[in-house]
Amino acid sequence: MALNGSGVTTEQLMKIAMEMAGQTKFPADSRIHVPGKNIRKILFGIDMGVAELLVGRQLGYDCVMAHHPDPSVLTFPDVLDLHVDIAVQNGIPEKEVREVIERIKHNQRLARHSANYDHAPSFARLLNMPYLSIHNPLDEIGRKRMQDAIHAHCGPDATVDDVVAALNTIEEIRNAPTNVEIRLGKGSNKAGKTVVAHGAGTNGGAALASVYFRNGVDTVVYIHIGPAEIPKLQAEFPTGKNLVVSGHIASDLAGINPFIKRLEEMGIEVTRVSGL
Ligand SMILES: [Fe+2]
Ligand SMILES: [Fe+2]
Repeated sequence: MALNGSGVTTEQLMKIAMEMAGQTKFPADSRIHVPGKNIRKILFGIDMGVAELLVGRQLGYDCVMAHHPDPSVLTFPDVLDLHVDIAVQNGIPEKEVREVIERIKHNQRLARHSANYDHAPSFARLLNMPYLSIHNPLDEIGRKRMQDAIHAHCGPDATVDDVVAALNTIEEIRNAPTNVEIRLGKGSNKAGKTVVAHGAGTNGGAALASVYFRNGVDTVVYIHIGPAEIPKLQAEFPTGKNLVVSGHIASDLAGINPFIKRLEEMGIEVTRVSGL
């Protein structure tokens, strides 16, 4: 898509991200809160709320774009279904993964039910500032980059250290202030079957990793995991299985950068803030 003199619309921004991710279904965790057109200058960050909308206005931007979804996105839990797709593609029985994901979705629904469903978007409307968040398509771009890097660099005898090295071939991850960490298992372990379980809303915690481990996957890669989840995995899998975390913001950036590059090639000015 070439940029004509009048810039892009918020709908086109979403569509470009979906096309790059190979998606046709509008992502349940993404939202155009305030539509806009003639957009040529975007303030883009991972977390963008009321303060950032005001910064965008003060500094003369046409649009404020976030990666993380606003709490008002009540359909967010539905994006977790993508974990089922990723697991099934990796040979996990659908019934087993579905059960775990339904539980996580239920908890997410409870959390969303109590959230303020119209905070930042109400200010964006008041400011008349085009405002959107693009979450899953960009995470899917990142997931593919990470899985491809592992595929390209890890043969059948690869160790977990080799998986870490493969992830570090992605410059966003290598250059980040965070490191790729092994949260379960050890570097000298054989990596075996390795799955990047990312790009489905949020990580699946110990419960999802456990489903993978019980079904022939030896190494799971998440971008992050809560501290309470690690002892559960250590208790269930004291040896042989591995969990690698690539770093939250660094891995988000790995999916976001190709999108920013595309926008810049179209002549759109993108200012990076909040982790970009
Ligand atoms: Fe993300
Ligand atoms: Fe994120």
